[in-house]
Amino acid sequence: MDLHQETQPQKVFHILSVSTFPNKKDVVAYALIILFISLLVTSIVFCNLLTPPLLLLPNFSFSKTLSCDYSNGKWVSDENYPTRKYTEDCPFLDPGFQCRRNGRPDLGYVKWRWQPHGCNLPRFDAKDFLERSRNRRMVFAGDSIGRNQWESLLCMLSEGVSNRSRVYEERGNPITKHKGFLSIRFQDYNLSIQYYRVPFLVVIDDPPENASQQVRRAIRVDKLHRFSSKWVGADVLVFSAGHWWTHHKTHKMGWYFQEEGRLNMTMDVMEAFGKSLQTLKSWVFKNCDPKTTRIFFRSYSPVHFRGGEWNTGGRCDLSNAPETDHLKPEVNEPLNNQIIKNMVKEMETAKRKVQFLNITYLTAMRKDGHPSRHREPGTPAKAPQDCSHWCLPGVPDTWNELLYAQLLSGAW
Ligand SMILES: *[C@@H]1O[C@H](CO)[C@@H](O)[C@H](O)[C@H]1NC(C)=O
Ligand SMILES: *[C@@H]1O[C@H](CO)[C@@H](O)[C@H](O)[C@H]1NC(C)=O
Ligand SMILES: *[C@@H]1O[C@H](CO)[C@@H](O)[C@H](O)[C@H]1NC(C)=O
Ligand SMILES: *[C@@H]1O[C@H](CO)[C@@H](O)[C@H](O)[C@H]1NC(C)=O
Ligand SMILES: *[C@@H]1O[C@H](CO)[C@@H](O)[C@H](O)[C@H]1NC(C)=O
Ligand SMILES: *[C@@H]1O[C@H](CO)[C@@H](O)[C@H](O)[C@H]1NC(C)=O
Repeated sequence: MDLHQETQPQKVFHILSVSTFPNKKDVVAYALIILFISLLVTSIVFCNLLTPPLLLLPNFSFSKTLSCDYSNGKWVSDENYPTRKYTEDCPFLDPGFQCRRNGRPDLGYVKWRWQPHGCNLPRFDAKDFLERSRNRRMVFAGDSIGRNQWESLLCMLSEGVSNRSRVYEERGNPITKHKGFLSIRFQDYNLSIQYYRVPFLVVIDDPPENASQQVRRAIRVDKLHRFSSKWVGADVLVFSAGHWWTHHKTHKMGWYFQEEGRLNMTMDVMEAFGKSLQTLKSWVFKNCDPKTTRIFFRSYSPVHFRGGEWNTGGRCDLSNAPETDHLKPEVNEPLNNQIIKNMVKEMETAKRKVQFLNITYLTAMRKDGHPSRHREPGTPAKAPQDCSHWCLPGVPDTWNELLYAQLLSGAW
């Protein structure tokens, strides 16, 4: 088609210029030209004008065409990405995420753009995001990976604010101290974006009195963290959990599960995770307005320890480009994703505005995005590498692009 459009006008010009007196040959040529032009016009009409009426057909679901599976795609190197991005000067960044400042020499890790298969992510528009979020409260609740994402969003949105001193922590707490709860206020928009540190979502307690010596903490799967009282009334809730639900971080540390006031020494970690999510689900049903509250569950963010575990010398400073091997172990779907997804489905069935933020696959490919040995100043040289969290700017920015896209698809 392109080829025709480019070559045909020259032909037309040529024939017209030589034929001052039309003869039989020219008439045929004219007829062919007219036929060709009408075909061209018809095809243009078909392509450009017939599409909108199609959109109006009663059976045509507009939201269906807008929604797209952003979870699957590929990372593309893009020198122009991002068009307008924050830097490590953003005041909301943990020192542990400022990789460049901590000595990371390669900077390619910020130049990768996520390209979903079959559609494009909407360009992140900070001003638009802020405008849509006017007079609202957003809550991030979960582990430190959730904090990683929260800080990323704060920095992305700050780019849309003209006077930065009108974005601040509500009680003046410094962002760098690991507080249990922080609330950043975007004053011009009457918007608060909060972070609550609840790695297990549920209560972590002292063990019951008759517990055996090996029990150091009790994870109470049927009791949501006390911070949950502060989530009531929030407009958007973004939960992230999963990182701490491993054998390493529970039983090995002497943390056991407790249900109905009794310790259960044999309860499986994934089963306990499922029970905690059920506890959260009941809380949502009881405390959240089904019409207004939007709920997101972020999927598992893979770690990339190579040549060992996090505590046995595993490292991730060996690569400065995303994974290309789609069969690497990190790419496997972790079991907790399925548990989260099932709960999301149950909540959808109960007509809740809930979405699964599936970042696992895209994140699994980014073995190059971790702080690795470029940890915060003062970290002992022998400390394990950080192959769980993410440099900022970096991979969590893409999670927030997905969050924005999914908010828009739900008419935010
Ligand atoms: C309308 O949409 C439904 C569900 O997408 C589909 O099963 C059905 O065949 C469609 N009907 C027509 C007339 O296209
Ligand atoms: C998450 O997304 C990946 C990539 O599209 C997909 O393979 C996986 O099944 C998804 N996980 C769930 C639980 O839906
Ligand atoms: C600011 O937002 C809160 C909700 O987060 C709302 O209750 C309050 O009325 C808003 N204030 C103004 C001045 O609009
Ligand atoms: C920015 O906001 C602060 C606090 O409201 C104000 O004191 C200051 O004058 C503002 N600066 C500019 C350049 O508008
Ligand atoms: C601890 O005591 C409670 C009653 O107070 C009892 O129900 C429970 O079985 C005991 N647990 C253990 C591990 O002994
Ligand atoms: C412990 O949990 C497992 C798995 O949920 C369950 O099958 C078992 O009955 C529980 N044991 C006690 C003593 O409650």
